[in-house]
Amino acid sequence: SFTVKLLKSKQEIEVHADKSIVQALTEKNIFIPISCENGVCGTCRCKVNGEIEHRDMVLSDDEKNRVKLFTPCVSRSAGGMIELPD
Ligand code: FES
Repeated sequence: SFTVKLLKSKQEIEVHADKSIVQALTEKNIFIPISCENGVCGTCRCKVNGEIEHRDMVLSDDEKNRVKLFTPCVSRSAGGMIELPD
């Protein structure tokens, strides 16, 4: 598991191996707009800080590496804590 820190609300949410980030946040009544939940539509894209294991098929390298976007419906931390600034 790994921790997602929400910088605005200062909450820390644990994401276990059997849950997506979107699912873990939803259980805490934090809702990210979603559609496909499969890493293809890009609806859930949001800013992130930290090392990400990108599992989507929609973001460009520029969006991932320079703009620092990820898709929390499928992508995960590559190990440590990650932060959502918004
Ligand atoms: Fe479609 Fe995340 S909901 S990429």
